[in-house]
Amino acid sequence: MTATQQRPLTLDAIETDTERLGFTMSCEEAVGRLLRALVAAKPGGHFLELGTGTGAGTAWLLAGMDDHSRLDTLDNDPACLGVARRHHTADPRVTLYEADGGAWLGDRATDDGPGYDLIFADTGPGKFTHLDEALSLVDRGGFYVVDDLARQPARTTLPEDHCLAVEALISDLESRAGWERLPLLGWSCGVLVMVRR
Ligand SMILES: C[S@@+](CC[C@H](N)C(=O)[O-])C[C@H]1O[C@@H](n2cnc3c(N)ncnc32)[C@H](O)[C@@H]1O
Repeated sequence: MTATQQRPLTLDAIETDTERLGFTMSCEEAVGRLLRALVAAKPGGHFLELGTGTGAGTAWLLAGMDDHSRLDTLDNDPACLGVARRHHTADPRVTLYEADGGAWLGDRATDDGPGYDLIFADTGPGKFTHLDEALSLVDRGGFYVVDDLARQPARTTLPEDHCLAVEALISDLESRAGWERLPLLGWSCGVLVMVRR
């Protein structure tokens, strides 16, 4: 297996527990590989994952981070977090929060603390709501990564209002000044990477 093909060491066990829990919303492997590469570009970086799920995305992020980097990740579902905690609490680089994403972003966006070098927006708050708050937390040169934007039919099980919300989100993100954009809407589950200028 090449280095590129390697998966985070924790991922097999996370996937087993995830299946047992019946959770089906973990990030796709291609997105995980993208996240791993992006955080590797920010040594000593500070990262945020909105929507921990059972910790699959977290595993990819941690795999790309150096020893001086830090990751905050949050979810409002204690069952999901239980799995993520089981596999990640031993890693001192990550802090897992049980919190509502909207409330958490509201608090952080108004304090004067440092921002983030990458935010992976993988739940409603920070994506379909509280978008201004999430974007305000991305430092210059930092990434805002959002997935599940595919207009495709692999996603036909998604309700119509989700598709409309995705369209509105994409046009909102495309209209904002001060950002470079890498649209990968036809790749994997549909991804948009924004880089703050
Ligand atoms: C797509 S999954 C996250 C998957 C994870 N990032 C990964 O890569 O494996 C979305 C998660 O958002 C959580 N969630 C939903 N509403 C939320 C909210 N208001 N605040 C925080 N988390 C929320 C769900 O419990 C779910 O675990």
